[in-house]
Amino acid sequence: MAAPSSETKKYRTKAQGLVSQMTVEEKARLLSGNGSWTTHAIERLGIPSIFMADGPHGLRKATGPNTAESVPATCFPTASALASSWNTELLKQVGEALARECQTHDVQLLLGPGINMKRSPLGGRNFEYFSEDPVLAGQLAAAYIQGVQGQGVGTSLKHFAVNNQEHERMVSSSNLDERTLHEIYLPAFEIAIKEAQPWSVMCAYNKVNGVYASENDVLLERILRDEWGFEGFVVSDWGAVSDRVKGVMAGLNLEMPGSGEVNRKKIIAAVEEGRLPVSKLDEVVTGLLTVVLRAKDSHRPGTTYDVEQHQELARKAAGESIILLKNEDALLPLDPRGTTKIAVIGAFAKTPRYQGAGSSQVNPTRQSRAYDELVRLGGGEARFGYAAGYDLEGVTSEQLIEEARKQARHADVAIVFAGLPDSHESEGFDRASLEMPEGHIRLIEAVSEVQSRVVVVLMNGSAITMPWAGKVKAIVEGWLTGQAGGSAIADVLLGQVNPSGKLSETFPLRLEDTPTALEFPGLHQQAHYGEGIFIGYRYYDKRAIQPLFPFGFGLSYTTFAYSDLRLGASSIKETETLSVEVKVKNTGKLAGKEVVQLYVRENKPRVVRPPKELKAFAKVSLEAGQEKTVRFELSRRDFAYFDSAQHDWAVQSGEFEILVGGSSRDLPLKQTVQVQSTRTAPVTLTRDSTVKEFLKHPQGKAVHSRLLEAFLGYSPDNKPPEPPNLTDEERAARKKGEDSTLVFINDMPAYKVVNFTQGRLTDQMLEEMLETVR
Ligand code: BGC
Repeated sequence: MAAPSSETKKYRTKAQGLVSQMTVEEKARLLSGNGSWTTHAIERLGIPSIFMADGPHGLRKATGPNTAESVPATCFPTASALASSWNTELLKQVGEALARECQTHDVQLLLGPGINMKRSPLGGRNFEYFSEDPVLAGQLAAAYIQGVQGQGVGTSLKHFAVNNQEHERMVSSSNLDERTLHEIYLPAFEIAIKEAQPWSVMCAYNKVNGVYASENDVLLERILRDEWGFEGFVVSDWGAVSDRVKGVMAGLNLEMPGSGEVNRKKIIAAVEEGRLPVSKLDEVVTGLLTVVLRAKDSHRPGTTYDVEQHQELARKAAGESIILLKNEDALLPLDPRGTTKIAVIGAFAKTPRYQGAGSSQVNPTRQSRAYDELVRLGGGEARFGYAAGYDLEGVTSEQLIEEARKQARHADVAIVFAGLPDSHESEGFDRASLEMPEGHIRLIEAVSEVQSRVVVVLMNGSAITMPWAGKVKAIVEGWLTGQAGGSAIADVLLGQVNPSGKLSETFPLRLEDTPTALEFPGLHQQAHYGEGIFIGYRYYDKRAIQPLFPFGFGLSYTTFAYSDLRLGASSIKETETLSVEVKVKNTGKLAGKEVVQLYVRENKPRVVRPPKELKAFAKVSLEAGQEKTVRFELSRRDFAYFDSAQHDWAVQSGEFEILVGGSSRDLPLKQTVQVQSTRTAPVTLTRDSTVKEFLKHPQGKAVHSRLLEAFLGYSPDNKPPEPPNLTDEERAARKKGEDSTLVFINDMPAYKVVNFTQGRLTDQMLEEMLETVR
């Protein structure tokens, strides 16, 4: 664990000084919020309060109890969109802009980013999370946090941990094995914390293996603080506290929203009764106060921001996030100066769905509608026709369909806007299916019957199925594009922006194909993570299931070619790093951006592993014809798996493939490297160890022979002579019998040899033998 930063040390010393002057009542008061959004101030000691606000993709400083009542703020694309940019620099810029808006409105802590893994595409909050892959989510989150905090505003990385569904979210237990926890559900948090030190972490509502995240000392103390070196405070998700005293003991600093006297009294009573040591209380208060003091000092009074500039950034961010999923006959981009008639169909073109619902709902400073922007950029109204096609719930009618067909028939190309209405995805509930509303599907099918050149533009926060995909020429995944989405969509459709987004989550063909099809969302407050480490592309790869669109996939108006993949060495020790370089060239006629993706595969793993895992990526901007060399560095963790027996990461010696390309299912380049493990895991032999485990142990060989001897009645090195005159057949049968007896013995636990030998080997003798190897 690294030493705390000098800033943390400075404020911790101040905080310690203040805590030493506080009464138990004051300490307990500080540990619960003052209402919904602020911490308590303690005037007697000059302790200020701080203001917290959602997050993550726009400031939601509440002005009333209703989630829709908040100060006007820039609504950026939601996380699933931003993640599709695969652009850490962009995430940083968005973070900086968000922080400027926080400074303007005197907000000290922004409640985001949310980085839980998308275990099922049905997760109701998937629109607010980055990815199904921990490396992508972790690196994007780190960049976002650096952006926000660089401007003197704190973040709250959420929801820690294993919070992957909305169903029974306040009570459900996410039940999973240790390896899955460490390989899939923790690393994004680990990356963000180690690289960016968020000022706070928000613990999740749910339980993890039966223990509330808000009372989970393994998560909050051992992993977060001791192993990863987290320096900030832990805040409960709003209402995630169950037993406040247990929470304090586990390292939960702040309860939000405030519970008034309810939990304050419980903390005081616990101290008085000796159940809560004052030293623990002080530690938790100091942790919170350290950030409160720092945050207050970081406030920059008088900050303002340029609404138009932020609108432009929101447009740029949306433009980078949009994914071109299909573009047959290069139908897109459409010529902005052309004379072809364009039918714009679908109510979303005029009333866009551009953000999710729940705690992240932003009151936008501006709004842009794709229809208006198309008209503005594409040569004026005369060129465009419009039909709504469905109402805002996605319901259509014969009349609406007929109007749409009419527009489509008389145009040269039809752009159909479709996706998921507001009521389909939100915080608070999971999606019931992967399908779009029937009205949207009927509309696309009806339009494609009368028009062969159909473009579908999608507005949705998470993966959907597309049974109609074969009937249209082009598909543009717009996501929930934020307030400037209309402009960004027009930019992409008319070629002002060359699309460069790539999927940060797999789009499956059917719900039945998804990793959690059998289990999600669980029952009776128990969510069983039976698919283990196989979520997202790890699952589709392992089961060789063809998705609709794979993880990492996205087209461009130009083309790219990969070459010259070079590794710094053909063999490394696990303690060494491996440098990787690869060339990528824009082979088309337009400038564009490519997301270079690097995956690692262990060739003959002795433990079950995903066929490949994303370990690095880079977004590269290339002029037409330009070539660049991209460099990565891999280290031990990129080759390791989590060994539950040792409760630690382990690398096995062997051959690994380094795969590079532009999508998880299109990796044209491959090189191999030998990695040598330098650590031998200590094996502790016990009565329960299998007989063969003694053979593998450096000191266990002699015990192994004695166990065999006890069982067989002779030493295997000193076999009794075989009976005379055996035929070859009889000899072979004898040999087979001996071999299977050995397999039988080797697989049994040592203590069973005592039973089988009817006392030839006693428990005491076994104990003595175990002593010799300990
Ligand atoms: C959400 C958090 C949010 C908090 C405050 C909770 O319901 O789960 O993500 O930050 O409310 O609005």
